[in-house]
Amino acid sequence: MLRILCLALCGLLTGMRADPGALLRLGMDIMNHEVQRAMEESHILEKMAAEAGKKRPGVKPIKGLSNMKVKDVITPVITLNFLPGVGIFQCVATGMTITGKSFTGANMEIIVVLNITATNRFLQDEETGLPMFKSEGCEIILVSVKTNLPSNMLPKVINKFLNSTLHKVLPGLMCPAIDAVLVYVNKRWASLNDPMPLGRMGTVKYALASTPTTTASHVQVDFSPLVQQQMGKTIPLTNSGEALEFPEGYAEGSSQLLLSAAFLTAELALLQKSLDVKIQDKMIGELPPQNTETLAGFLPEVAEVYPKPKPLVTQIRINKSPKVTMTSGKSLLHLHGTLEMFAAQRGKRPVSLFLLEVHFNLRIRYSVHENWLQMATSLNRLLSLSRRSSEVGDFNEKELINFITDYLQEAYIPVVNDVLQVALPLPNLLAINYDLAELDIVENALILDLKQA
Ligand SMILES: *[C@@H]1O[C@H](CO)[C@@H](O)[C@H](O)[C@H]1NC(C)=O
Ligand SMILES: *[C@@H]1O[C@H](CO)[C@@H](O)[C@H](O)[C@H]1NC(C)=O
Repeated sequence: MLRILCLALCGLLTGMRADPGALLRLGMDIMNHEVQRAMEESHILEKMAAEAGKKRPGVKPIKGLSNMKVKDVITPVITLNFLPGVGIFQCVATGMTITGKSFTGANMEIIVVLNITATNRFLQDEETGLPMFKSEGCEIILVSVKTNLPSNMLPKVINKFLNSTLHKVLPGLMCPAIDAVLVYVNKRWASLNDPMPLGRMGTVKYALASTPTTTASHVQVDFSPLVQQQMGKTIPLTNSGEALEFPEGYAEGSSQLLLSAAFLTAELALLQKSLDVKIQDKMIGELPPQNTETLAGFLPEVAEVYPKPKPLVTQIRINKSPKVTMTSGKSLLHLHGTLEMFAAQRGKRPVSLFLLEVHFNLRIRYSVHENWLQMATSLNRLLSLSRRSSEVGDFNEKELINFITDYLQEAYIPVVNDVLQVALPLPNLLAINYDLAELDIVENALILDLKQA
């Protein structure tokens, strides 16, 4: 009874929160790079200068100064700091030269050095479901205000007045700059909502599993990837029961992407049908000629039925979803299916010789090319072989182990590798260059240790 209750409750509980199939941890290296890029792309400096020069309604000109112009804006230096549980604290150290005529008629330059600070809260946009930064509490801190006039020409009271006026004027001028930069940073998450193709077999969408979180050293985005067949059917991720976590040992503040074995398995389910093949080449790789005579070398029974050599035709069908497993340093692809061999007949349908049930695994090597995850395989082991039917009499399947092992390696692995050429999409966000990543296989996951160019 209790067990039934737990099954029901636990089912409910796990159904309630989406299990992440991929995790992304962004350290300061990537965030800094993004914000710098956004600054450049948004042409915020030019905009700030233009904005500062404009006459704006509701903003009084600085008393005692006329012909005010912003001459130049000092290249901002941006410093970011993670605020655990909140987001990123941003400080933009910049400044500008304001020119004008003073109340005495003299040309005056005011050099203002200031810091703009704001908290960029990391949220999940309710409408789009995308991660986004939203700035809060923008403040202007005047570091220094200097003029070219001797201080006696600028009475203290004016100086004070200037300071307080700047305090009123500058936030309206400078704070939109923070927002403008964030618009650019936020735009770089937008493609997350676009389903990415996995060959022609389906799509993958990196949907957020929950609101992103911030710690003292990084922001973390948990994905609950949606793997869909071309016809729209969703392939569920099988939960391994263990929470996904980044292993220890990565440099503080560095960035990583973790892809779970369950997620890769779901992606490869899209390719299952493509793994079914019929092979009828006479010569394959290093293999001896593919005919009944060669086969009879392993299975003498074949020679009795076919005294004259006939070409072989092989049909392989994968009848279970391919499964990816990972243990430290090693990843395997498990394939279960049937292998049927036929003797080709001139002008007639090939005749079945036998049908074997096979289970074998392939070793996967991962790499990234142009931001797509690629896999290449080699045969690891033939794990089981059993005879389902035979038209050449009873035989012990053990006699075929070497023949089938060589066949899989030479004839079938190239087919698998061909199918895997489609490559798997990686989350398209920010300006992450996955090609530079170092790949690590850990327990139940593949880790891409991201590097900045
Ligand atoms: C302004 O920002 C710079 C760079 O982050 C920092 O070193 C300095 O202490 C800040 N000054 C003030 C007054 O906040
Ligand atoms: C400007 O005024 C603020 C208070 O409004 C004060 O804290 C600050 O020290 C002043 N800065 C300068 C450069 O005078």
